[in-house]
Amino acid sequence: MKKDFLTLRDWSADDLKQMIETAIRLKAENKNNVRHHHLEGKKLAMIFEKPSTRTRVSFEVGMYELGGYPLNLSGNDIQLGRGETVKDTARTLSRYVDGIMIRTKGHEIIEELAKYATVPVINGLTDDFHPCQVMADVMTIFEYKKTYKVKVAFIGDGNNMAQSWMYGAAKFGMDISVASPEGYECKQRVYDEARKTAETTGAKIEMVRDPYEAVQNADIIYTDVWASMGQEAEKEARKAIFKDYQVNAKLMAATGKDTLFMHCLPAYMGLEVTEDVFESKNSIVWDEAENRLHVQKAIMLAVMGNK
Ligand code: CP
Ligand code: NVA
Repeated sequence: MKKDFLTLRDWSADDLKQMIETAIRLKAENKNNVRHHHLEGKKLAMIFEKPSTRTRVSFEVGMYELGGYPLNLSGNDIQLGRGETVKDTARTLSRYVDGIMIRTKGHEIIEELAKYATVPVINGLTDDFHPCQVMADVMTIFEYKKTYKVKVAFIGDGNNMAQSWMYGAAKFGMDISVASPEGYECKQRVYDEARKTAETTGAKIEMVRDPYEAVQNADIIYTDVWASMGQEAEKEARKAIFKDYQVNAKLMAATGKDTLFMHCLPAYMGLEVTEDVFESKNSIVWDEAENRLHVQKAIMLAVMGNK
């Protein structure tokens, strides 16, 4: 049975923790010039229907470092962009490659792709979820805090990042408080599912309106863009809607702790975060970005490696 990596909900907490351990080991080995060829001869098709810097480069470099071959396919260059169905794209690619990573729009697109592909499918971001990013985030938190027992405050849009974080926090037993403006909350279904998982791991999951309430006692303050890819037309309107959800020095100081700042990137200074916070010693965004590489190698090994 092939195993896809579409959301963190689909994987057990033990499996996810194992991936973090593998990623930490691979990172240390990488720094000591220990090279692996665990994916030698394997091919990964990478489909991008939205722009990317980190996901594109980290998957490509990760595949190279594991001895495999990455194929970068822009959605516009392949027939998918001209109307060939997702179903037929899945069945075609499965005859050539050993895995497919896709960044796309609606989450139902990746579900359709995974249904018809006979090789594992990895989510490189959909409108609803970005699980690889949260794995890198969790790895980074574990490196800094040496525990999963932390509180994360997510400030802003209840988007793909916030929703993936709800599943991630639930699985890893972390507490999370998501503060979003009215009408921009995480979906109720995601919240309910995360809370159900949290019953088994002891995580506390909450959605609030007030960012100052969310950051109480937070070890980490996390934010993301106010207008995600595909929402460019809403950019100006969102500036007004999210203006009270900026992560600035005052909000960082309101935790009552020495709190770390995280952002999946790309970031927009003066909007969701101020430059002084982004450039402060408490900002760990570059470690977070680097860890995309290491954790995705662990994810690829889990779904494409020889068991
Ligand atoms: N965080 C993230 O996924 O970045 P990219 O859009 O650059 O891939
Ligand atoms: N919410 C952002 C995340 C970018 C990594 C977006 O979807 O554009």
